[in-house]
Amino acid sequence: MHIVHITAEMAPIAKVGGLGDVVTGLSKSVAARGHRVSVIMPFYESLPKDQIIGLKHEMDLDVPKGYRFDGEMRIGSLRTSVFSGQISGVQTYLVRPADWNSCNIFRGGRIYGGSYNELEAYLYLCRSSLEYLKVSGQQPHILQLHDWHAAATALLYWECYHNQGLWRPRTMLTIHNMENTGECRQDEFAATGVFGEIFASSDKALDERTIGHNPERINLMKGGVVYSNAVTTVSPSYAKEVVQGGAAGWLRSLFAKPEVSEKFHGILNGIDFEEWDPATDSLLAANYTSYEPLGKELCKEYLQKGLGLNVDPKKPLVAVVSRLVPQKGIHLIKSAVHRTVQQGGQFVLLGSGHSDGIFKNMANNEFKDHPDCRLMVMYSERLAHMIYAAADIVLVPSMFEPCGLTQMIALRYGAVPVVRKTGGLADTIHDVDHSDPGLANGFSFEGSDDASLHSALDRALNMYKDKQEEWKELSLRNLKADMSWAGSAKSYVQVYKAIAALH
Ligand code: ADP
Ligand code: GLC
Repeated sequence: MHIVHITAEMAPIAKVGGLGDVVTGLSKSVAARGHRVSVIMPFYESLPKDQIIGLKHEMDLDVPKGYRFDGEMRIGSLRTSVFSGQISGVQTYLVRPADWNSCNIFRGGRIYGGSYNELEAYLYLCRSSLEYLKVSGQQPHILQLHDWHAAATALLYWECYHNQGLWRPRTMLTIHNMENTGECRQDEFAATGVFGEIFASSDKALDERTIGHNPERINLMKGGVVYSNAVTTVSPSYAKEVVQGGAAGWLRSLFAKPEVSEKFHGILNGIDFEEWDPATDSLLAANYTSYEPLGKELCKEYLQKGLGLNVDPKKPLVAVVSRLVPQKGIHLIKSAVHRTVQQGGQFVLLGSGHSDGIFKNMANNEFKDHPDCRLMVMYSERLAHMIYAAADIVLVPSMFEPCGLTQMIALRYGAVPVVRKTGGLADTIHDVDHSDPGLANGFSFEGSDDASLHSALDRALNMYKDKQEEWKELSLRNLKADMSWAGSAKSYVQVYKAIAALH
């Protein structure tokens, strides 16, 4: 089969969080099963071009697009350049306006960080992806659309291409996070080259398909759910939270409809076992495996020295590597910093995001030059690898978590996760004190208050301090765990095949 992903992020060159990791890891794994997989993404000006192998200009084409003219929206076109190259071995197409002087979409800053309008930019991504596939004559079987950024592709395909009978891809929307669903005014939707009014009709049933939380607006994720042949999310528990719990918010009733729930699947993410491999990871001070685990201790010593912390193998090293946004349980991370240091452990944080001010403040005051605590407000792929390898405990106290990759990376590097039991964290981490010993791989808690967090964190710190042998066994077991994409890629292929067979 031929599968094309449409996405805002792709690791390692355009990654803010797990979305980028998933696009690359899933693509590689499905390709390894014998399928043709490619990716279409923005050509952000900030991309490290030297990491795109064989980067070349494919073509220029005119992509339909709305413009405001004399206060009125009109449809014209935007000259668009498409480039291609290999990213982590995956065939990737990159789109951008041909002339950045006349249109600044994807220009400047970092990913999501330019001065352009995000809604306009991602609506343009959807239309330019479809136009490129049409003009280049590619006829993929499946278009896999990631999050709200790509969701409008399903609406556009159906409204603008389906009846042309040119090609009949099936569409799959993959929801990584229901928190951002993307909502735009009808005139803003014209960035796709069609007026949003086509979705607003006197026919209530049609109208219902895209009508937003604000009834004047079009909700892109909702439209994507309705118009796609299949909808997936990134763990079975989050799928349940979407259908039965509060994860979908005002969209809950949409997921309750039989025609939606029948095509909705929760498929657990994996991690890219080549990218995340302590046996070969070139960013580590020493490599290690479950057979020769000693390198992990060297990685810890190296990090302690490098960060100017007490160099002490006996101190449990607790780490957080995370976007710093409310989803990630900011108050609990803050509380864990204090608790860990009080209990004689060390704390290392690497993160950035809207809520990072709290940690900047702590780093510059209370914890300035602290021998057991380093709070680093930044994004660094290199440091992330070094921290997972050095960590004894990786903390993920999220308020909600569609899947979460950091706890799986932690297992891969022989660390022990301490997580809040929600979404994908509940699916992947089994509490040492409450699970079958064969499954147990970490510690979990349910509440969202300090006491709940402390009960799990303390159990982990105490086991590290008092039961060294058991701890080593647990770490070795985690090192051997299979968190790769293999099983989940198989599940995706099953869904691709099922929707490709639809009439
Ligand atoms: P989310 O997608 O919600 O951010 P995930 O756990 O799915 O959460 O994925 C997070 C990914 O981003 C992981 O690969 C993690 O290592 C990485 N990451 C998060 N913050 C940073 C950072 N500050 N520096 C480097 N990598 C980071
Ligand atoms: C989102 C979610 C995270 C998930 C990631 C990849 O960013 O917050 O839980 O792991 O997407 O699917």
